Amino acid sequence: MNVLVTGATGFVGRRLVTALLAETAHDVTVLVRDADAYDPPGDVTVVEGDVLEPGGFEASLESVDVAYYLIHAMDASGDFAARDRRAARNFSLAANAAGVERIVYLSGLGSDADELSSHLASRREVESILTAGAADVTVLRAAIIVGDGSASFRMIRQLATRLPVMITPQWIKTPCQPIAIDDIVAYCLAVLERPETAGETYEIGGADVLTYREMLTETAEIATGRRPLIVPVPILSPRLSAYWVGLVTDVPKELAYPLIGGVRNPVVVTDDRLARLVDVEPTPFDVAVRRALGIDPESGAHLETPTQPGQDAE
Ligand SMILES: NC(=O)c1ccc[n+]([C@@H]2O[C@H](COP(=O)([O-])OP(=O)(O)OC[C@H]3O[C@@H](n4cnc5c(N)ncnc54)[C@H](OP(=O)(O)O)[C@@H]3O)[C@@H](O)[C@H]2O)c1
Repeated sequence: MNVLVTGATGFVGRRLVTALLAETAHDVTVLVRDADAYDPPGDVTVVEGDVLEPGGFEASLESVDVAYYLIHAMDASGDFAARDRRAARNFSLAANAAGVERIVYLSGLGSDADELSSHLASRREVESILTAGAADVTVLRAAIIVGDGSASFRMIRQLATRLPVMITPQWIKTPCQPIAIDDIVAYCLAVLERPETAGETYEIGGADVLTYREMLTETAEIATGRRPLIVPVPILSPRLSAYWVGLVTDVPKELAYPLIGGVRNPVVVTDDRLARLVDVEPTPFDVAVRRALGIDPESGAHLETPTQPGQDAE
């Protein structure tokens, strides 16, 4: 098969390209915005283009059977939802024209019955735009991805390790089902080999459901050996929390604000059809955190080289 990975320079995309090359015989094309700055992990066809610029990226879709859509525009200022809408529309039109059979889109977990944050609502909008096209779309909805280089996990890690005492909003009690980057890559590869997953929307998660409080505490214990004191108070608005996260962490505010807006929504798997269909052993949260921090989960030793590309350890 000819497989296209968009977002190939990103946290998920980089690992997916590496795994496609190592574990499959498919021909891999990547779409990147700056080909000169891209260091391919092996034999891939590199196409330079920007999905916000119609006319400039379509060559990446030539002869492609399956495309992974791993793009989001939350890292720049302004209206990210409008940019993500435009990007998805451009990509969908180009995929239709190129006759792409399947698209795999990595989206966000969260119940449609809840009032979704702007971030999660935007993920849903991208799902609708892509599924309205001619290609069969497989949607994989995930909560926080735990790994070195994940912006959402970086917020958890830096809050957990930089603050011995935290005055937190009530969202600290919201349940979340984080997932290890290894599991994400395994699911992305698994759906490629299962044609019956085309046209389906799945929820995927790791082995544990935790509150944000538990995630912060466990991450702090693994990283520093200490438990932070966490005091939830009713008065912190999402805007104030985002401001506070912006002060404590180095995640850019353009990214931190929409991510923090999403933490009031429970993000837990309620439909485990994909876990029952394919053979992916869910990674426990503590193991995922250790790997993300470059700690061997078995021996506890700090690894000299990170297990994943894009080292981001404290
Ligand atoms: N990380 C998580 O915890 C998490 C959780 C659930 C779902 N997801 C979803 O997973 C997907 C991938 O996330 P990620 O964490 O890997 O994101 P990321 O590291 O921020 O990567 C985003 C990628 O999108 C590319 N991109 C942005 N705008 C583009 C444009 N106009 N044209 C072409 N490429 C563009 C970026 O390229 P440049 O290098 O050129 O900027 C980068 O490669 C997203 O849809 C995200 O919503 C992530």
